[in-house]
Amino acid sequence: MRIAVLPGDGIGPEITAQAVKVLQAVARAGVKCEYQQAPVGGAGYDAAGDPLPEATLHLAEQSDAVLLGAVGGYQYDQLPREQRPERGLLRLRKSLGLFSNLRPARLYAELSDASSLKAEVIAGLDLMIVRELTGDVYFGQPRGLRRNDSGEREGFDTMLYSESEIRRIAHVGFQTAAARGNKLCSVDKANVLETSMLWREVVTEVAKDYPAVQLRHMYVDNAAMQLVRDPRQFDVIVTGNLFGDILSDQAAMLTGSIGMLPSASLNEFGKGLYEPIHGSAPDIAGKDLANPLAMILSVALMMRYTFRRPELGRSIEAAVEKVLAQSYRTPDIFERGARKVGTEEMGDAVIAALRFN
Ligand code: IPM
Ligand code: MG
Repeated sequence: MRIAVLPGDGIGPEITAQAVKVLQAVARAGVKCEYQQAPVGGAGYDAAGDPLPEATLHLAEQSDAVLLGAVGGYQYDQLPREQRPERGLLRLRKSLGLFSNLRPARLYAELSDASSLKAEVIAGLDLMIVRELTGDVYFGQPRGLRRNDSGEREGFDTMLYSESEIRRIAHVGFQTAAARGNKLCSVDKANVLETSMLWREVVTEVAKDYPAVQLRHMYVDNAAMQLVRDPRQFDVIVTGNLFGDILSDQAAMLTGSIGMLPSASLNEFGKGLYEPIHGSAPDIAGKDLANPLAMILSVALMMRYTFRRPELGRSIEAAVEKVLAQSYRTPDIFERGARKVGTEEMGDAVIAALRFN
Protein backbone atom coordinates (compact mmCIF):
# COMPACT_ATOMS: atom_id res chain seq x y z
CA MET A 1 0.00 0.00 0.00
CA ARG A 2 1.29 3.41 -0.89
CA ILE A 3 0.39 6.15 1.51
CA ALA A 4 0.76 9.86 0.90
CA VAL A 5 1.50 11.63 4.16
CA LEU A 6 0.45 15.28 4.16
CA PRO A 7 1.07 16.76 7.63
CA GLY A 8 -0.08 20.28 6.74
CA ASP A 9 0.01 23.12 9.26
CA GLY A 10 -0.27 23.95 12.94
CA ILE A 11 -0.58 20.82 15.04
CA GLY A 12 -0.79 18.78 11.81
CA PRO A 13 2.86 17.67 11.78
CA GLU A 14 2.88 16.64 15.48
CA ILE A 15 -0.24 14.52 15.30
CA THR A 16 0.71 13.07 11.92
CA ALA A 17 4.00 11.89 13.39
CA GLN A 18 2.05 9.88 15.98
CA ALA A 19 -0.22 8.39 13.33
CA VAL A 20 2.79 7.37 11.24
CA LYS A 21 4.26 5.61 14.29
CA VAL A 22 1.03 3.65 14.58
CA LEU A 23 1.15 2.80 10.87
CA GLN A 24 4.70 1.55 11.29
CA ALA A 25 3.59 -0.65 14.17
CA VAL A 26 0.78 -2.00 12.00
CA ALA A 27 3.30 -2.61 9.24
CA ARG A 28 5.28 -4.78 11.63
CA ALA A 29 2.12 -6.84 12.02
CA GLY A 30 2.38 -7.76 8.37
CA VAL A 31 0.94 -4.96 6.26
CA LYS A 32 3.39 -3.56 3.77
CA CYS A 33 3.27 0.23 3.51
CA GLU A 34 5.35 2.78 1.70
CA TYR A 35 5.15 6.41 2.72
CA GLN A 36 5.92 9.57 0.95
CA GLN A 37 5.48 12.98 2.50
CA ALA A 38 4.43 16.21 0.79
CA PRO A 39 3.34 19.70 1.82
CA VAL A 40 -0.27 20.88 1.70
CA GLY A 41 -2.15 23.95 2.95
CA GLY A 42 0.02 26.75 4.30
CA ALA A 43 3.03 24.44 4.08
CA GLY A 44 2.27 24.00 0.38
CA TYR A 45 2.03 27.73 -0.07
CA ASP A 46 5.37 28.22 1.70
CA ALA A 47 7.06 25.51 -0.35
CA ALA A 48 5.58 26.13 -3.79
CA GLY A 49 3.29 29.18 -3.64
CA ASP A 50 0.24 26.91 -3.85
CA PRO A 51 -1.78 25.28 -1.04
CA LEU A 52 -2.01 22.19 -3.23
CA PRO A 53 1.27 21.98 -5.15
CA GLU A 54 1.24 19.92 -8.38
CA ALA A 55 3.64 17.40 -6.90
CA THR A 56 1.45 16.90 -3.83
CA LEU A 57 -1.67 16.33 -5.92
CA HIS A 58 0.27 13.94 -8.14
CA LEU A 59 1.51 11.98 -5.13
CA ALA A 60 -2.01 11.81 -3.70
CA GLU A 61 -3.35 10.57 -7.04
CA GLN A 62 -0.71 7.85 -7.21
CA SER A 63 -1.28 6.63 -3.65
CA ASP A 64 -3.73 4.10 -2.28
CA ALA A 65 -4.53 6.30 0.68
CA VAL A 66 -3.80 9.80 1.92
CA LEU A 67 -3.14 10.64 5.54
CA LEU A 68 -3.69 14.32 6.23
CA GLY A 69 -3.05 16.31 9.42
CA ALA A 70 -4.72 19.71 9.29
CA VAL A 71 -4.42 22.95 7.33
CA GLY A 72 -4.59 26.64 8.16
CA GLY A 73 -2.79 29.30 10.16
CA TYR A 74 -3.07 32.97 11.09
CA GLN A 75 -0.19 33.94 8.81
CA TYR A 76 -2.20 32.82 5.77
CA ASP A 77 -5.45 34.58 6.63
CA GLN A 78 -4.76 37.59 4.43
CA LEU A 79 -3.85 35.63 1.29
CA PRO A 80 -6.11 35.77 -1.76
CA ARG A 81 -8.81 33.13 -1.64
CA GLU A 82 -7.18 30.72 -4.10
CA GLN A 83 -4.00 30.60 -2.04
CA ARG A 84 -5.58 30.05 1.35
CA PRO A 85 -4.70 26.73 3.01
CA GLU A 86 -8.35 25.58 3.11
CA ARG A 87 -8.56 25.87 -0.67
CA GLY A 88 -5.78 23.31 -0.94
CA LEU A 89 -7.76 20.81 1.09
CA LEU A 90 -10.97 21.50 -0.82
CA ARG A 91 -9.24 21.11 -4.18
CA LEU A 92 -7.67 17.87 -3.00
CA ARG A 93 -11.06 16.47 -1.97
CA LYS A 94 -12.57 17.55 -5.27
CA SER A 95 -9.71 16.36 -7.49
CA LEU A 96 -9.71 12.91 -5.91
CA GLY A 97 -13.50 12.69 -6.14
CA LEU A 98 -13.84 12.09 -2.39
CA PHE A 99 -17.56 12.69 -2.21
CA SER A 100 -18.29 10.47 0.75
CA ASN A 101 -17.14 11.66 4.14
CA LEU A 102 -17.68 9.34 7.09
CA ARG A 103 -17.45 10.92 10.54
CA PRO A 104 -18.12 8.48 13.36
CA ALA A 105 -18.87 10.01 16.75
CA ARG A 106 -18.45 7.49 19.48
CA LEU A 107 -18.26 8.11 23.19
CA TYR A 108 -15.47 6.27 24.94
CA ALA A 109 -16.92 5.42 28.33
CA GLU A 110 -13.86 6.83 30.11
CA LEU A 111 -14.53 10.25 28.62
CA SER A 112 -18.15 10.63 29.65
CA ASP A 113 -17.15 13.31 32.16
CA ALA A 114 -15.19 15.24 29.55
CA SER A 115 -18.39 15.95 27.61
CA SER A 116 -20.36 19.07 28.44
CA LEU A 117 -23.54 16.98 28.37
CA LYS A 118 -24.82 14.89 31.25
CA ALA A 119 -23.42 11.38 31.35
CA GLU A 120 -26.89 9.81 31.09
CA VAL A 121 -27.62 11.69 27.85
CA ILE A 122 -24.52 10.44 26.06
CA ALA A 123 -23.77 7.05 27.62
CA GLY A 124 -23.08 4.57 24.83
CA LEU A 125 -23.31 7.22 22.11
CA ASP A 126 -22.30 5.83 18.73
CA LEU A 127 -23.43 7.62 15.62
CA MET A 128 -22.13 8.09 12.13
CA ILE A 129 -22.40 11.24 10.09
CA VAL A 130 -22.24 10.67 6.34
CA ARG A 131 -21.38 14.06 4.88
CA GLU A 132 -21.40 14.80 1.16
CA LEU A 133 -18.00 16.36 0.50
CA THR A 134 -17.58 17.58 -3.06
CA GLY A 135 -20.74 19.58 -3.75
CA ASP A 136 -23.11 22.07 -2.15
CA VAL A 137 -22.36 25.70 -1.43
CA TYR A 138 -18.68 24.73 -0.95
CA PHE A 139 -18.22 24.31 -4.70
CA GLY A 140 -21.33 25.71 -6.42
CA GLN A 141 -20.81 28.32 -9.12
CA PRO A 142 -21.13 31.23 -9.47
CA ARG A 143 -19.55 32.60 -6.34
CA GLY A 144 -17.65 35.72 -5.63
CA LEU A 145 -17.60 39.31 -4.53
CA ARG A 146 -19.18 42.11 -6.51
CA ARG A 147 -20.63 45.58 -6.16
CA ASN A 148 -24.38 45.92 -6.31
CA ASP A 149 -26.24 48.77 -8.02
CA SER A 150 -25.83 51.05 -5.04
CA GLY A 151 -22.08 50.44 -5.04
CA GLU A 152 -22.11 48.30 -1.94
CA ARG A 153 -19.98 45.14 -1.81
CA GLU A 154 -21.84 41.83 -1.95
CA GLY A 155 -20.59 38.30 -1.37
CA PHE A 156 -22.45 35.42 -2.96
CA ASP A 157 -22.24 31.64 -3.13
CA THR A 158 -24.39 29.06 -4.86
CA MET A 159 -25.93 26.13 -3.06
CA LEU A 160 -26.27 23.46 -5.71
CA TYR A 161 -26.77 19.72 -5.84
CA SER A 162 -27.42 17.61 -8.90
CA GLU A 163 -29.63 14.58 -8.66
CA SER A 164 -26.74 12.19 -9.24
CA GLU A 165 -24.66 13.79 -6.50
CA ILE A 166 -27.52 13.35 -4.05
CA ARG A 167 -28.23 9.82 -5.20
CA ARG A 168 -24.69 8.51 -4.72
CA ILE A 169 -24.31 9.91 -1.20
CA ALA A 170 -27.80 8.66 -0.33
CA HIS A 171 -26.69 5.15 -1.30
CA VAL A 172 -23.69 5.48 1.00
CA GLY A 173 -26.01 6.61 3.78
CA PHE A 174 -28.36 3.67 3.33
CA GLN A 175 -25.54 1.15 2.99
CA THR A 176 -23.87 2.52 6.10
CA ALA A 177 -27.14 2.27 8.01
CA ALA A 178 -27.73 -1.26 6.70
CA ALA A 179 -24.35 -2.29 8.13
CA ARG A 180 -25.19 -0.75 11.52
CA GLY A 181 -28.55 -0.19 13.21
CA ASN A 182 -30.74 0.17 10.09
CA LYS A 183 -31.75 3.73 10.98
CA LEU A 184 -31.03 6.62 8.65
CA CYS A 185 -31.86 10.26 9.27
CA SER A 186 -31.51 12.56 6.27
CA VAL A 187 -30.90 16.16 7.30
CA ASP A 188 -31.88 19.08 5.08
CA LYS A 189 -33.64 22.42 5.06
CA ALA A 190 -36.43 21.44 2.70
CA ASN A 191 -38.86 23.92 4.24
CA VAL A 192 -36.83 26.75 2.71
CA LEU A 193 -34.20 25.66 0.18
CA GLU A 194 -34.78 24.35 -3.36
CA THR A 195 -31.57 22.33 -3.09
CA SER A 196 -32.96 20.61 -0.02
CA MET A 197 -36.34 19.94 -1.61
CA LEU A 198 -34.59 18.02 -4.36
CA TRP A 199 -32.38 16.35 -1.76
CA ARG A 200 -35.43 15.06 0.11
CA GLU A 201 -37.09 13.79 -3.07
CA VAL A 202 -34.04 11.90 -4.26
CA VAL A 203 -33.28 10.39 -0.84
CA THR A 204 -36.89 9.21 -0.67
CA GLU A 205 -36.53 7.56 -4.10
CA VAL A 206 -33.30 5.80 -3.11
CA ALA A 207 -35.03 4.50 0.04
CA LYS A 208 -37.01 2.09 -2.13
CA ASP A 209 -33.81 0.09 -2.69
CA TYR A 210 -33.35 -0.37 1.06
CA PRO A 211 -36.63 -1.59 2.53
CA ALA A 212 -34.93 -2.79 5.73
CA VAL A 213 -33.59 0.67 6.57
CA GLN A 214 -35.89 3.00 8.47
CA LEU A 215 -35.63 6.49 6.94
CA ARG A 216 -36.58 9.78 8.56
CA HIS A 217 -36.11 13.33 7.35
CA MET A 218 -35.21 16.14 9.67
CA TYR A 219 -34.66 19.86 9.20
CA VAL A 220 -31.14 20.92 10.08
CA ASP A 221 -32.16 23.34 12.81
CA ASN A 222 -34.11 20.61 14.54
CA ALA A 223 -31.25 18.16 14.00
CA ALA A 224 -28.87 20.56 15.75
CA MET A 225 -31.27 20.69 18.68
CA GLN A 226 -31.91 16.94 18.77
CA LEU A 227 -28.18 16.24 18.74
CA VAL A 228 -27.77 17.89 22.12
CA ARG A 229 -31.21 16.95 23.48
CA ASP A 230 -31.08 13.22 22.78
CA PRO A 231 -28.16 12.26 20.53
CA ARG A 232 -28.71 8.54 20.93
CA GLN A 233 -31.84 8.70 18.78
CA PHE A 234 -29.46 8.79 15.79
CA ASP A 235 -27.72 5.88 14.15
CA VAL A 236 -26.64 7.26 10.77
CA ILE A 237 -27.14 10.83 9.60
CA VAL A 238 -26.75 11.63 5.91
CA THR A 239 -26.49 15.26 4.90
CA GLY A 240 -24.95 17.80 2.56
CA ASN A 241 -21.53 19.38 2.76
CA LEU A 242 -22.31 22.51 4.77
CA PHE A 243 -24.77 20.98 7.23
CA GLY A 244 -22.42 18.03 7.69
CA ASP A 245 -19.53 20.35 8.47
CA ILE A 246 -21.48 22.04 11.23
CA LEU A 247 -23.21 19.01 12.71
CA SER A 248 -20.00 16.99 12.85
CA ASP A 249 -18.25 19.59 15.02
CA GLN A 250 -21.26 19.52 17.27
CA ALA A 251 -21.28 15.71 17.39
CA ALA A 252 -17.59 15.78 18.23
CA MET A 253 -18.21 17.74 21.40
CA LEU A 254 -20.72 15.14 22.55
CA THR A 255 -17.80 12.76 22.77
CA GLY A 256 -15.79 15.06 25.01
CA SER A 257 -13.38 16.70 22.62
CA ILE A 258 -13.05 17.58 18.99
CA GLY A 259 -9.63 15.95 19.35
CA MET A 260 -11.31 12.53 19.33
CA LEU A 261 -13.10 12.43 15.96
CA PRO A 262 -11.53 10.79 12.91
CA SER A 263 -12.84 10.86 9.38
CA ALA A 264 -12.61 8.95 6.14
CA SER A 265 -13.27 10.60 2.79
CA LEU A 266 -13.81 8.06 0.05
CA ASN A 267 -14.25 8.09 -3.68
CA GLU A 268 -16.40 5.62 -5.55
CA PHE A 269 -13.57 3.09 -5.66
CA GLY A 270 -12.84 3.16 -1.94
CA LYS A 271 -9.69 5.21 -2.24
CA GLY A 272 -9.54 7.35 0.83
CA LEU A 273 -8.20 10.40 2.51
CA TYR A 274 -8.03 10.08 6.26
CA GLU A 275 -7.93 13.08 8.54
CA PRO A 276 -9.17 14.20 11.94
CA ILE A 277 -12.20 16.45 11.71
CA HIS A 278 -10.53 19.18 13.77
CA GLY A 279 -8.46 22.04 12.47
CA SER A 280 -4.80 23.03 12.77
CA ALA A 281 -5.14 24.70 16.22
CA PRO A 282 -2.28 27.18 15.60
CA ASP A 283 -2.55 28.46 19.18
CA ILE A 284 -1.21 25.19 20.58
CA ALA A 285 0.99 24.13 17.65
CA GLY A 286 4.49 22.91 18.38
CA LYS A 287 3.90 22.69 22.12
CA ASP A 288 3.27 18.97 22.45
CA LEU A 289 -0.25 19.74 23.71
CA ALA A 290 -2.41 18.43 20.86
CA ASN A 291 -4.51 15.30 21.17
CA PRO A 292 -3.31 12.81 18.51
CA LEU A 293 -6.18 10.36 19.03
CA ALA A 294 -8.47 11.63 16.25
CA MET A 295 -5.52 11.28 13.89
CA ILE A 296 -4.65 7.81 15.18
CA LEU A 297 -8.29 6.75 14.92
CA SER A 298 -8.19 7.97 11.32
CA VAL A 299 -5.54 5.31 10.71
CA ALA A 300 -8.01 2.78 12.09
CA LEU A 301 -10.51 3.95 9.48
CA MET A 302 -7.80 3.57 6.82
CA MET A 303 -7.36 -0.07 7.84
CA ARG A 304 -11.08 -0.57 7.52
CA TYR A 305 -11.92 1.20 4.30
CA THR A 306 -8.78 1.19 2.14
CA PHE A 307 -6.79 -1.78 3.45
CA ARG A 308 -9.98 -3.77 4.02
CA ARG A 309 -8.50 -5.11 7.23
CA PRO A 310 -11.18 -4.26 9.79
CA GLU A 311 -9.47 -6.39 12.43
CA LEU A 312 -6.45 -4.07 12.31
CA GLY A 313 -8.78 -1.10 12.68
CA ARG A 314 -10.29 -2.75 15.74
CA SER A 315 -6.82 -3.35 17.22
CA ILE A 316 -6.04 0.36 16.94
CA GLU A 317 -9.37 1.34 18.47
CA ALA A 318 -8.85 -1.15 21.28
CA ALA A 319 -5.43 0.39 21.97
CA VAL A 320 -7.04 3.83 22.21
CA GLU A 321 -9.63 2.46 24.63
CA LYS A 322 -6.86 0.95 26.69
CA VAL A 323 -4.83 4.15 27.05
CA LEU A 324 -7.97 6.01 28.05
CA ALA A 325 -8.71 3.30 30.62
CA GLN A 326 -5.12 3.72 31.84
CA SER A 327 -6.01 7.40 32.45
CA TYR A 328 -3.71 8.91 29.86
CA ARG A 329 -5.15 12.31 28.95
CA THR A 330 -4.00 15.17 26.75
CA PRO A 331 -5.01 18.59 28.10
CA ASP A 332 -8.24 18.79 26.06
CA ILE A 333 -9.68 15.72 27.81
CA PHE A 334 -7.88 16.09 31.12
CA GLU A 335 -9.76 15.72 34.36
CA ARG A 336 -8.54 15.72 37.94
CA GLY A 337 -6.71 12.62 38.99
CA ALA A 338 -5.87 11.60 35.43
CA ARG A 339 -2.40 11.32 34.01
CA LYS A 340 -1.66 14.36 31.88
CA VAL A 341 0.48 13.61 28.83
CA GLY A 342 1.62 15.40 25.72
CA THR A 343 1.14 14.50 22.08
CA GLU A 344 4.25 12.28 21.86
CA GLU A 345 3.63 10.42 25.06
CA MET A 346 0.02 9.74 24.07
CA GLY A 347 1.25 8.35 20.75
CA ASP A 348 3.77 6.14 22.55
CA ALA A 349 1.12 4.91 24.98
CA VAL A 350 -1.08 3.84 22.07
CA ILE A 351 1.82 1.96 20.47
CA ALA A 352 2.56 0.24 23.76
CA ALA A 353 -1.08 -0.79 24.05
CA LEU A 354 -1.36 -2.17 20.51
CA ARG A 355 -2.04 -5.89 20.24
CA PHE A 356 -2.66 -7.81 17.06
CA ASN A 357 -4.29 -11.16 17.11
C1 IPM B 1 -13.67 20.09 8.02
C2 IPM B 1 -13.09 21.48 7.98
C3 IPM B 1 -12.95 21.94 6.54
C4 IPM B 1 -14.34 21.99 5.93
C5 IPM B 1 -12.21 23.28 6.34
C6 IPM B 1 -10.85 23.26 6.96
C7 IPM B 1 -12.14 23.65 4.90
O1 IPM B 1 -13.85 22.35 8.75
O2 IPM B 1 -13.07 19.19 7.42
O3 IPM B 1 -14.71 19.92 8.65
O4 IPM B 1 -15.06 22.98 6.08
O5 IPM B 1 -14.73 21.00 5.32
MG1 MG C 1 -15.38 21.41 9.87
